[in-house]
Amino acid sequence: MYENIKYEVKGNLGYLTINRPKALNALNTEVLSELADALKEIEADDAVKAVIVTGEGKAFVAGADIAQMSKLNAVEGRAMMQAGHKVMNTIDQMPKPFIAAVNGFALGGGCELAMACDIRIASSKAKFGQPEVGLGIIPGFCGTQRLSRLVGKGMAKYLIYSAEMINAEEAFRIGLVEKVVEPDALMEAAEKLANTIASKAPIAVAQAKIAINNGFDMDLKSASQLEVEATTVCFGSEDQKEGMAAFLEKRAPEWKNR
Ligand code: HXC
Repeated sequence: MYENIKYEVKGNLGYLTINRPKALNALNTEVLSELADALKEIEADDAVKAVIVTGEGKAFVAGADIAQMSKLNAVEGRAMMQAGHKVMNTIDQMPKPFIAAVNGFALGGGCELAMACDIRIASSKAKFGQPEVGLGIIPGFCGTQRLSRLVGKGMAKYLIYSAEMINAEEAFRIGLVEKVVEPDALMEAAEKLANTIASKAPIAVAQAKIAINNGFDMDLKSASQLEVEATTVCFGSEDQKEGMAAFLEKRAPEWKNR
């Protein structure tokens, strides 16, 4: 069904793989359009409790497609950026957890895709960077904003102005990734985390994502009120009754996602 990505569901997990290994999984307009379609599938499928995003071959994603972008005028470039923003923002705003399993190069739009995910686990061979200024542009899939929010303004400026590529260990040190594992252990680590999250109350995980992501850009007073509202949604759910009853009855909870 898709030509440039793969989307599979196994158990409770969705697997979204960028699949253009000959071009190091560069994001062209076709990939972005297929990602937008796959995200609609993911959003509509209640059985999918967590999603792992990765790349086929030696790269996660080596950026937006430079061959395609080289021919774009300002209007066309803007349309491509909007398509990229739509994909990144859909991942960011969808109330399901996304884990980036960063298997190799995560550059430019690839680093931006990883940053749009909730949590990043990297292979020790992964490389990160925002090389855009070397191409005459700037990060255009929200990298100027997400990178500074993740690692701070100073480090974001260091990485974006210098276009320096950093390894997984440095990415971990600055808070760009949450965990680094040996290459062979990457998918296992991502699946272990995804399954752990999938075993929790889906409505609670969803409300936690809403509270963290939407609250991050608010003042503390508004954000704390958002947390009150999100927790109230949880208290109104059957799963809150089930989770607490299961604890008291010393048994495993059975989530209903309502
Ligand atoms: C198109 C790409 C590509 C890209 C790699 N390829 N990255 N094609 N767009 N972003 C292609 C190469 O042209 C080559 O094709 C093949 O993939 C293998 O790449 P090599 O360069 O031969 O591999 P290697 O020597 O291992 O070097 C890997 C690399 C290098 C360091 C990742 O490919 C690289 O620097 N790529 C560009 C990274 C980059 O600048 N990304 C940011 C893009 S801008 P052939 O046909 O020769 O085999 C961006 C902006 C986002 O992302 C938002 C703006 C709208």
